[in-house]
Amino acid sequence: MSGKVERVKTGIPGLDELIQGGFVKDNAVLITGSAGTGKTIFCSQFIWEGLQNGDNCMFITFEERPEKIKQEAMDFGWDLQKYEDKGQLIIRQKDPFDTSEGDELFWFRSELEKNDVDRLVMDSTSILSLYYDDQYKVRENLFKIVRTIEESDVTAVLTTESPEGEDKLTRFGVEEYLVDGVIKLDILSMGGSARSLSIRKMRRTKHKTKSHEMEITEDGISIQ
Ligand SMILES: Nc1ncnc2c1ncn2[C@@H]1O[C@H](COP(=O)(O)OP(=O)(O)OP(=O)(O)O)[C@@H](O)[C@H]1O
Ligand SMILES: [Mg+2]
Repeated sequence: MSGKVERVKTGIPGLDELIQGGFVKDNAVLITGSAGTGKTIFCSQFIWEGLQNGDNCMFITFEERPEKIKQEAMDFGWDLQKYEDKGQLIIRQKDPFDTSEGDELFWFRSELEKNDVDRLVMDSTSILSLYYDDQYKVRENLFKIVRTIEESDVTAVLTTESPEGEDKLTRFGVEEYLVDGVIKLDILSMGGSARSLSIRKMRRTKHKTKSHEMEITEDGISIQ
């Protein structure tokens, strides 16, 4: 055994070089940022990279409708529909106002196994706070989600909203401890609208923590 860490390319130009070649295979990485920082685009780009490489992919959307996700991806030239038709991509919407039991959330465990999913995206876990009125329940369910991902052979990107104007990485303050990696997206409002990305945590990976300039163009996200 070489002990070499197997890595999964993110599909974000400039990012893999900062994290020794990509995300650690089968890890769960959290993308945190306030509104409009590019979390959903990051998700679609990660999925698109997987689809190009023959990975089976699953996109669970809690907020936007699947149609909208596909439309927005298409703006960047990522034809998700084609792969959904082929059965290589599954897009599922989970209605936050569906009041079914907590465990129902874990239908995705069997879907992951049944479809042999390699890449999973969950956008955005912040909506969990609408399901459950007490924070303990939110944390418990986040924990269950991450545990389910850990028990499956899947590389996952989860997103969460970071509270604006507060010095908190995540809303509940627990998400960042549960996952293997945390990437923060920012918009610096001073002097225009510079975007940045910083790697706050990445287990088994040597990385810097400084912020890197980020761009969103017609080709998607890239890091300078
Ligand atoms: N084609 C494009 N070219 C350049 N920038 C774009 C393009 N499409 C979207 N954007 C930028 O990306 C932003 C939206 O990104 P995205 O939807 O990924 O953000 P988000 O973090 O998911 O936001 P939310 O918290 O609302 O879900 C837009 O506000 C815009 O600034
Ligand atoms: Mg979004």
